[in-house]
Amino acid sequence: MSSKDFENQQVGLRRQAAGERRATALAHPNIALIKYWGNQDDDLRLPANPSLSMNLGDLQTVTAVTFDDRLPADELLINGTEFSGPALQRVTASLDLVRRLAGIDTPARIESDSNVPVGSGIASSSAAFAALSVAAAAAAGLDLAETALSRLARRGSGSASRSVPAGYCEWVTGSDQTSVATSIAPPDHWALRDVVVVASRAHKAVGSSGGHPLARTSSLQAARVAGVEARLEACRETLLARDLDRMGPVIEEDAVIMHAVMMSSRPPLYYWTPTTMALILATQQWRAEGIPVYFTIDAGPNVHLICEAPYAQAVEAQARKIAGVQTVLASQPGGPARLVD
Ligand code: DP6
Repeated sequence: MSSKDFENQQVGLRRQAAGERRATALAHPNIALIKYWGNQDDDLRLPANPSLSMNLGDLQTVTAVTFDDRLPADELLINGTEFSGPALQRVTASLDLVRRLAGIDTPARIESDSNVPVGSGIASSSAAFAALSVAAAAAAGLDLAETALSRLARRGSGSASRSVPAGYCEWVTGSDQTSVATSIAPPDHWALRDVVVVASRAHKAVGSSGGHPLARTSSLQAARVAGVEARLEACRETLLARDLDRMGPVIEEDAVIMHAVMMSSRPPLYYWTPTTMALILATQQWRAEGIPVYFTIDAGPNVHLICEAPYAQAVEAQARKIAGVQTVLASQPGGPARLVD
């Protein structure tokens, strides 16, 4: 679909949504190549540093939001299961921002389906809050610019700001109004693959939201933040030049520094398992054997192996041989969060 056709389709779906007070949106999770860890303001999710990511087109969350005056309160269904408690409260807080903008106080029913494994280091919240924000805004009759949607998504989950625009996205620090993500390159800019190696399906003891406030307790966080700008610039430049041999070492360094902060926090956060470490060492071995592949790791034990498309099958086959690996899923770069039929 051309970008003009896409825009027209979105306008049509937004009109329909405003009339029906119901909209459905699709969003992809993203993998950060330069990480977000720690906030300047935890409530507003104003990050301590800028970050850069790639949307994962083969993973997605589809969320329908229906505003309905007959509902006593918001209702949340994820993959067919009804949720209350903290999960619902977090969704209600995001919807409240939309309701305030639209000048309504109508409760909503939220039905979300996802093929992203929850709670295991693949930022499922990024796709969830991007899809929720895009669907809720349209169902409330709002016509928001991409930056305004990115801001809304950020308030739900920081990394979700980067799942709103397409492809490769940069999220800047700033104020509540200006800290948003924009695309620096479309999905077809570079045929990179993220070979996601699931090292554990267990739910994390401390998720990202619980982890961010601990960042400032590590004496390494200041050094990490001080060095981010240079790493981000190097990552952006090599990404735009499609130069994995130069980008790879930068993303590995950035991920390891984030984990050093996590491990040196009080209380410390150890996300790596022996399988994570085995995959890190294997990546060095595979490179020595001629496969250009580099790792990054989010807040969990899973390892994201970044390589160019022609090497993805070989990387996947090698990763499956490592003891403890549960499953492997490969993804290409993904498009923006968008309204769907
Ligand atoms: C390690 O966006 O999941 O994946 O804002 O509390 O929802 P909340 O945190 P979240 O943090 C992501 C942290 C990370 C790095 C990254 O994606 O940049």
